[in-house]
Amino acid sequence: MADLSLTDRRGALAQQAAEALRAHDAVLIAHYYVDGELQDLAQATGGCVADSLEMARFGRDHEARTLVVAGVRFMGETAKILSPEKRVLMPELEATCSLDLGCPADEFGQWCDAHPDRVAVVYANTSAAVKARADWVVTSACALPIVRHLHAQGKKLLWAPDKHLGGYIQEQTGADMLMWSGACIVHEEFKAVELELLRKEHPQALVLVHPESPAAVVAQADVVGSTSALLKAVADKRAKSYIVATDNGMMHRLRQVDPEAILIEAPTAGRSATCKSCAHCPWMAMNSLEAVIHCLHSGAGEIHIDPPVRDAARACIERMLAFTAASAIAPPAGGFVQHIGAV
Ligand code: 13P
Ligand code: SF4
Repeated sequence: MADLSLTDRRGALAQQAAEALRAHDAVLIAHYYVDGELQDLAQATGGCVADSLEMARFGRDHEARTLVVAGVRFMGETAKILSPEKRVLMPELEATCSLDLGCPADEFGQWCDAHPDRVAVVYANTSAAVKARADWVVTSACALPIVRHLHAQGKKLLWAPDKHLGGYIQEQTGADMLMWSGACIVHEEFKAVELELLRKEHPQALVLVHPESPAAVVAQADVVGSTSALLKAVADKRAKSYIVATDNGMMHRLRQVDPEAILIEAPTAGRSATCKSCAHCPWMAMNSLEAVIHCLHSGAGEIHIDPPVRDAARACIERMLAFTAASAIAPPAGGFVQHIGAV
């Protein structure tokens, strides 16, 4: 391959990966934050590029015998929980999430034991063992309607692990929620003061914010929602320019749905910053074409979950999927789009 250009080499690798998927009766399910090459491969081979809710649905419904999940560990586990009969491979098994890491199952279990009167609602970004102890699982695409539903039934909640998403949901619903104190290391870095300055420079830009961001950033959003909800705002051509407060892996898909759109990354560093963030999840970045080919050829990266944990976790994931199906939170670019109003 020495005489091939970099573009040709990457194209040849993508070709190899496509052939490996075919040879192993496998489908690629990619999150919006993984490398653009993987997103393109998923689209070109009949897989999907989606938010975590749609990834779960797609894997459950696809007939392939092997699911290759390019994302982070909880996404692979969710696929396996919903399809125990399928082989689920991850290009990189070590790809985790700060929210998952920050919510160990034993501590979470003790917290639940201490509050038996509360319904335990966990974000999808948790281990299978945490989900097995919970009553409900939610993703950012359905957290708001599910909590609203539970609140309307008079339920008091335990919420884990994302304190920012939890704070946003509590503020929107008025629900009684005891909060775990986890955070996403990517979204937590978005800076409110610098965002205000950037908005002054770009007064026409629509501000898109993922609700894992701090409250002072969410408060400046025109649209706050899951990755699919943010994508939908751009696909609907709501504006000509956007300030985007989510992982910058998302830009690849946003550019595809509106090539004319001006996309500006929300600031992650500046005078109020304590460290510099690149606005890209280090665990999502572990996924690559090479790793997809390797996991398919070697069988490495297979997800295994103990059946009792799997079955307990499955009950509350299926509760979420049934709720979203009944309330028409529909694929592919569904999810809630919350209009905070012009700022
Ligand atoms: P979505 O469910 O919006 O895709 O979010 C998953 C995630 O990990 C965001 O950081
Ligand atoms: Fe977890 Fe944040 Fe990475 Fe999403 S972006 S997988 S929430 S660390």
